[in-house]
Amino acid sequence: MKVTISHIKADIGSLPGHSIVDEKVMARIQEYIEDHGKNLISDFRMAHVGDDAQITMIHTKGIDSPEIHELAWNAFRAGTEVAKKLGLYGAGQDLLKDSFSGNLKGMGPGVAEMEINERPSEPFIVYMMDKTEPGAFNLPIYKMFADPFNTPGLVIDEAMHSGFRFEVWDVIDHKAIFLDGPEDIYDLLALIGSKERYVIKRVYTKKENKKLPEENVAVISTDKLSLIAGKYVGKDDPAAVVRIQSGLPAAGESLEAFAFPYLVSGWMRGSFNGPLMPVGMKDAKMTRFDGPPRVVALGYVLKSGKLEGPVDMFDDPAFDYARRVAGEMTDHLRRMGPFEPHRLPDQEMEYTTLPVVMDKLKDRFVDIEKETVVK
Ligand code: 13P
Ligand code: 13P
Ligand code: MG
Ligand code: MG
Repeated sequence: MKVTISHIKADIGSLPGHSIVDEKVMARIQEYIEDHGKNLISDFRMAHVGDDAQITMIHTKGIDSPEIHELAWNAFRAGTEVAKKLGLYGAGQDLLKDSFSGNLKGMGPGVAEMEINERPSEPFIVYMMDKTEPGAFNLPIYKMFADPFNTPGLVIDEAMHSGFRFEVWDVIDHKAIFLDGPEDIYDLLALIGSKERYVIKRVYTKKENKKLPEENVAVISTDKLSLIAGKYVGKDDPAAVVRIQSGLPAAGESLEAFAFPYLVSGWMRGSFNGPLMPVGMKDAKMTRFDGPPRVVALGYVLKSGKLEGPVDMFDDPAFDYARRVAGEMTDHLRRMGPFEPHRLPDQEMEYTTLPVVMDKLKDRFVDIEKETVVK
């Protein structure tokens, strides 16, 4: 049976700053979907990370379904009304348009969805990040699906020995390229190491996979990236849906990709590099310097359109060490204050006063070759 997993997220207001979604807002979104989703979806779950509200829905309408997108849009609108009433900060932040027009592309919310042939057991993990951008998934998705030091199944499980196919977007030239692991991994890494420009959008099984047909096995939300060609507009807290087991990375191989808190860009004012800290839902709130950037992982199985779970996968002492290292990295980086590479290069910052400063100082610049010593 073909079934679609649609994960849709938006920041529609938080408290006290960009820290956490209010429970009343979550309850309103939930209530809206319960009331209006009955004939559209077979199941759903709500979650949040930091100030981003997240909905995972199951249905049979395929990806980019106007009805499903509109349901999520209207649920976020209902949640926004509550956020406004409560005076939450940034109420309605991610709802960029006044009315829905058939698809969520370019409207603000992030969407990660895939249509699949449901397996007898269909386990998957939803990863949700706050205070970073879609390119933050490049490194862990690569590790899960292409790096045998992370995923030994690539070597020792015959079913997945042939590797996986990656769909990478060039967000500046607005193009996509398909690259195969292991054949193309050096080319793949040459691109996705530049995570502001090249972003993994999807991963597919290859036809040689012994357990699954050729289909989508991982998808990352990249919605802002599809907005304007030629200009990076990507500071958009991302989410990913990753199918696991039986010809795919095991749950533990998928989670293993987050055991090392690598650096991502975002954090305070979307303008700083910081370590990505894996946390359980109880710690999915943003505090120090509006972070550090965090990722939560909720594990599910899907059966005949119904979800079992979630299991809060990073709520576990096995990730304490990663959290401690992330804490130490936070301390180290914070001492650099406004200096790169803690602060992002100015073209990647979400906020920059540099043009204003430059304008103010323009008459005070003198030619280096002429007299520059103040007498
Ligand atoms: P499967 O091949 O059944 O997914 O088992 C792998 C596994 O879970 C190892 O941890
Ligand atoms: P969000 O993108 O999560 O709303 O964070 C914005 C910000 O400026 C945090 O400092
Ligand atoms: Mg916010
Ligand atoms: Mg956010």
